Amino acid sequence: MTGSLISTLEGRYYTDTAIFAREQERIFERMWFCAVRSDDLAKPGDFRTVQVGRESVLVARDRTGALNAFLNVCRHRGARICVDEAGSVKRAFQCPYHAWTYALDGKLVAAPNLTSMPDVDRVEYGLTKVHLREWLGYAWVNLADDPPSFEDDVLSAVTERLGSLDAIDGYEIDRLSVGRRIVYDVKANWKLIIENFMECYHCATIHPELTEVLPEFADGYAAQYYVGHGAEFGDEIKGFTVDGGEGFGKLSSLEEERDRKYYAITVKPQVFINLVPDHVILHRMYPLAADRTVVECDWLYARDVVDTGRDVSRSVELFHRVNEQDFEACERCQPAMASRAYAQGGVLVPSEHHIGEFHAWLVGKLESAD
Ligand code: FES
Ligand SMILES: [Fe+2]
Repeated sequence: MTGSLISTLEGRYYTDTAIFAREQERIFERMWFCAVRSDDLAKPGDFRTVQVGRESVLVARDRTGALNAFLNVCRHRGARICVDEAGSVKRAFQCPYHAWTYALDGKLVAAPNLTSMPDVDRVEYGLTKVHLREWLGYAWVNLADDPPSFEDDVLSAVTERLGSLDAIDGYEIDRLSVGRRIVYDVKANWKLIIENFMECYHCATIHPELTEVLPEFADGYAAQYYVGHGAEFGDEIKGFTVDGGEGFGKLSSLEEERDRKYYAITVKPQVFINLVPDHVILHRMYPLAADRTVVECDWLYARDVVDTGRDVSRSVELFHRVNEQDFEACERCQPAMASRAYAQGGVLVPSEHHIGEFHAWLVGKLESAD
């Protein structure tokens, strides 16, 4: 590896509302977007609304037990159907404006005087469906008419990082339970959060607890760019907890070789997966503005750990501190993106060079002709 510096994106990429609008259109409304933990919608009628690009998307469980996703827009005169972030309806969604009523599968089932309007087709005027696929126990949605392959967009990120898709299967992420969820409202552009997650040059400076547990992180090399490499726990470390004390024991289906190791995967454009022997930490980003990103972070444990009420607080505390340390760093950079000092951008040191590939990927998405 050479010792050369390479340039970052220019500051305007992190502040310009026109660039953000293009990212919404070209990236978030075209790629697979991890929207909702499937278990959060346990029974028919449970719903959640999420912001995906410029759209509000309604995800709901129907009477057959399946999840569906729709644009959260009434087909009559466009009122937003659900304004709450989460909730439950009995049998249908009723628009609060003129009471058009949609079944849980999106079909228009009732409206005042509907029988006297035979040209209103109940399927054609149903809620606009969005593609949905479940993986790792999450509902991933895609707003494109013709979605890109899930394999190319999502699964390949895991293969590139871990060497194979089988490597993630042992964690059985779809069967884990949410032991804790923390939502962070970060005053920073989503790309600062991704770039930060991709490098560990900052680990020695801002993550004292993490580098105690994973000593190799103090050298500044992100585990993310050696295919298949997991960062080893330090010799004295018993578990992935805030003080290195005992965790919950390895997940039952996990291979021996993955014990005492940490793996991190970035699934562009908005998911981070952190794998440790006894739990999984999964971040979903919701970019809301050029300078604001909501991050929903789930700590996922074996079902019995959650069901028996074991105390997960020391386990959660480690990555919660890492999150706070990281997001504070991102918020520290955000205002500077508009400074004259950053008009031409900054630089990437050798251990950050892989972030340059992310920048090239982003520019390619924004500039592609279609
Ligand atoms: S806008 Fe929804 S019923 Fe009229
Ligand atoms: Fe960090």
